[in-house]
Amino acid sequence: MYDYKNPWKVRIARALNRVMQDAGIEGTVEPSRIVAEIPPNPELGDLGFPMFSFAKLLRKGPPQIAQAVAEALAAETVSGTFAAQGPYLNVRLNRGEAAAAILAEALAEGGAIDKPGEFAFGRPGSLAGQRIMVEFSSPNTNKPLHLGHLRNDVLGESISRILAACGADVRKVCIINDRGVHICKSMLAYQEYGEGKTPESESLKGDHFVGDWYVRFNTIFTEEAKALEKEKCLKKEEAEAQAPSLAKAQDLLRKWEAGDAATVDLWKKMNAWAVGGMKETWDRTGVSFDQFYYESQTYLLGKDEVLKGLEKGLFYKKPDGAIAVDLSAEKLDEKVLIRRDGTSIYITQDIGTAIFRHKDWPFDRLVYVVGSEQQYHFKVLFTLLDKLGFEWAKNLYHLSYGMVNLPEGKMKSREGTVVDADDLIDSLRDMALNEIREKDREEAVGDSAVVAEKIALGALHYYLLQVSPTKDMLFDPKESLSFNGNTGPYLQYMGARISALLRKAESSGEVSGTVFNAELLSGDAEWELIKTLAAYPEAVSAAAAGMDPSLLAAYLYELSRTFSRFYHDCPILNAEESGLASARLALSRAVLRVLQDALHLVCIPFLEAM
Ligand code: ARG
Repeated sequence: MYDYKNPWKVRIARALNRVMQDAGIEGTVEPSRIVAEIPPNPELGDLGFPMFSFAKLLRKGPPQIAQAVAEALAAETVSGTFAAQGPYLNVRLNRGEAAAAILAEALAEGGAIDKPGEFAFGRPGSLAGQRIMVEFSSPNTNKPLHLGHLRNDVLGESISRILAACGADVRKVCIINDRGVHICKSMLAYQEYGEGKTPESESLKGDHFVGDWYVRFNTIFTEEAKALEKEKCLKKEEAEAQAPSLAKAQDLLRKWEAGDAATVDLWKKMNAWAVGGMKETWDRTGVSFDQFYYESQTYLLGKDEVLKGLEKGLFYKKPDGAIAVDLSAEKLDEKVLIRRDGTSIYITQDIGTAIFRHKDWPFDRLVYVVGSEQQYHFKVLFTLLDKLGFEWAKNLYHLSYGMVNLPEGKMKSREGTVVDADDLIDSLRDMALNEIREKDREEAVGDSAVVAEKIALGALHYYLLQVSPTKDMLFDPKESLSFNGNTGPYLQYMGARISALLRKAESSGEVSGTVFNAELLSGDAEWELIKTLAAYPEAVSAAAAGMDPSLLAAYLYELSRTFSRFYHDCPILNAEESGLASARLALSRAVLRVLQDALHLVCIPFLEAM
């Protein structure tokens, strides 16, 4: 991979070594120790190399070192110019030379345009040989996916693509929490009032159908608790604990764990509906998994491990029979691991799931993309696995992300509390479709329904990823769809604009853009764009290292804006001379490749026209 900073790092290291030699100082400086910065003011040059870190070694002040390096370099023939400026050595690159090297690489055969995600440029290889498992989405089966899942899904999918782009062997996995009292609640309501209805008979997506029964359970449960509160003058929590429907749901869970045939049948049926519905949503948003795990397959393994831990004296039995662990030394309090009625809880299965996964696919790292409200849960989980003696426990990482809400009153949800994922995408799509119709763009875009859906996903995904994961955020549907802000559709529009330009060039046949002289690209706007292109590999590595797609989102915005400036300042097809037209066209083609590749990494659909 060509890094335009590299030749200068090598030169400066060489110069430093010469200065040291002349002064009789032992030791060598490797090029990797030379740090390149972008000067705050372009007047100063394209790159600035700070000399602070060599002061001790060279026994000189940084400004004197910069001066000495400049003098040593003066003896070499180099392309580009340099000057010592205070503690920095500032360098102005030879634009044509750098442009030629960067464009050659960005335009090399194969890659983004045919197969997004398989682009050699921008592939730092920093994670080559690492096996990384990324868990995300991981729904419960009692209700459909909501807005929080959409953030989770796009984070997980995007991070997986970014890690893979850096050379990691990535396995995307999902745990379906198909066991527990939550699904028993939907089952109970359906058992009592379902009258044999099915998602088909009600024309509902399976997950919505199951979710409706969960809502029904909650209505009944709340009514019961309210009545008890009044009748027996109980506190709310006491009344809720005594509600008969809750006892019935817990009874169903016990029956399920005991393998009662009718209960297991009902459970299978309802889970299949729920998961089937979710798969439709994942397909629709471009999210996919290499492997599904089911809590129902792993919770027994977890239970066994807890019992082993009990034998080893790591855990203890409470007076009521529940099994617990004392984590007060870790400041994590006491934590129950198996309920007093013997049923397992959420953490029990997670112990089993982690062990199962490591056997299944021994990973170097396992990343859990899960909301910040579960920070305590994961701290406990990682501590327990460590206590149980799994040395890989130290390679587990909770990628915790913040809440996402809609601005108050923007959209009602089916359940009244959370925003349904499908409904939200539908409404974004309808808004995009309206816009296409209002602008009379139906002819131009091709299949408007398909394009509207892609715009909706671009808007949604970019908005969700643009904020760094840990922050809470508001999702503003209208703002997300705007064509001229820092939005997904703006980036898509830039891609469509460049595609149109290339089509036009091709049909005119006058300028090719395949044979070109990069030396001609020496204007300021062209140079800015070339430097931005060259920064792409670093943006990809930084996003991988920080597990933060917002860094790539920011890069994309920067690239689009820089292109926009270039497009405004530099006529392309009507350039002053045909050689220049060809070179500018080649530059545009390189931008399109990088744009398309980066869009893929942040899960924004690319559009040829919009
Ligand atoms: N199903 C859980 C929920 O909806 C999230 C699961 C997260 N992953 C895990 N391994 N615990 O809250």
